[in-house]
Amino acid sequence: TRLPPSLASRADDVDRITGHKRMRRNRKADWSRRMVQENWLGVEDLIWTLFIVPGTNVREPVEAMPGVFRLSVDQAVEAARHAAELGIPALAPFPNIAQDKRDETGSHILDDDNLIHAFTRAIKKAVPDIGIITDVALDPFTSHGHDGIYRDGEIVNDETVALIARAAVMQAEAGADIIAPSDMMDGRVGAIRQALDSAGHQSVGIMSYATKFASGFYGPYREAIGTADLLKGDKRSYYIDPANAVEAVRDAELDVAEGADMLMVKPGLPYLDICRALKDSFGLPTFAYQVSGEYAMIKAAAANGWIDGERVMMESLLAFKRAGCDGILSYFALEAAARIRAGHGAPALKPPF
Ligand code: PBG
Repeated sequence: TRLPPSLASRADDVDRITGHKRMRRNRKADWSRRMVQENWLGVEDLIWTLFIVPGTNVREPVEAMPGVFRLSVDQAVEAARHAAELGIPALAPFPNIAQDKRDETGSHILDDDNLIHAFTRAIKKAVPDIGIITDVALDPFTSHGHDGIYRDGEIVNDETVALIARAAVMQAEAGADIIAPSDMMDGRVGAIRQALDSAGHQSVGIMSYATKFASGFYGPYREAIGTADLLKGDKRSYYIDPANAVEAVRDAELDVAEGADMLMVKPGLPYLDICRALKDSFGLPTFAYQVSGEYAMIKAAAANGWIDGERVMMESLLAFKRAGCDGILSYFALEAAARIRAGHGAPALKPPF
């Protein structure tokens, strides 16, 4: 079939319109596409976020997160071995604390035998080469699900900071390599730095959840750690308004000044502009937390056959690299690392040299 003459003559015009510049030349073959690829996802980019529970031999599915389980410490140790074999550099545990251990001030965070300390010690003993990044926010430990001490309807900033600085020292003593405060209290990074240093933990780093937004994407996480039914009100008086980018950069600037070694953006995919802004503004190692709701959306659409789940998982993780991130905290970490290791298809494994 021949093109109608009008279309054929327009086709002749394309070289004139493009000035002979054609983007498709570089895209024409697999070798050429690989040659011009700008960003890569490697196993070393993936920090595995996992849920832990008391007990032994426990492996409970999280309903809204197919493929994610709450693990008892013994199970988590096995999983950590597997993660280390895959090349995952670090773990970020989140505990589901027994309800009877939760109180108004989250005081159980300071108990030596709490779940975070037990997990950290067990992993450090069994899998010493994997990094451990612990959170010091109080939400898993409070009876109201807030990240700080709650009094007369308010989250009390400075007392919370004093408490989590102590918690940071205890976590460091249990073996945590990096403290990642996710509470968004003012002044916490500086207070944690000071507390760590004066306890002799100069080499323990701080990854600040510098820009944590008051987001709807945290829903499945709250189910996973058992705070969904507890939370009174919302977290808008301490997390950042999703409408604000300039404020987010200012908040990160304070954390950098207070001594943050690394920055984090949370949630991830809806906030890629913030990732880019932080990387360009400060040049610190910058991470994104691809949160529970992001994971749930991809899994749900894939389960319905509406998207290719594996492809969207890899594309979403690679997008963080393009946006300037140095790595991603993700519930997909094991699955994505296995996929990278298996090496089928792009995006491929970073070369090992
Ligand atoms: C609170 C905390 C949150 C998450 C981790 N720690 C948010 C919240 O419950 O308000 C969310 C993680 C996720 O959704 O995957 N300190």
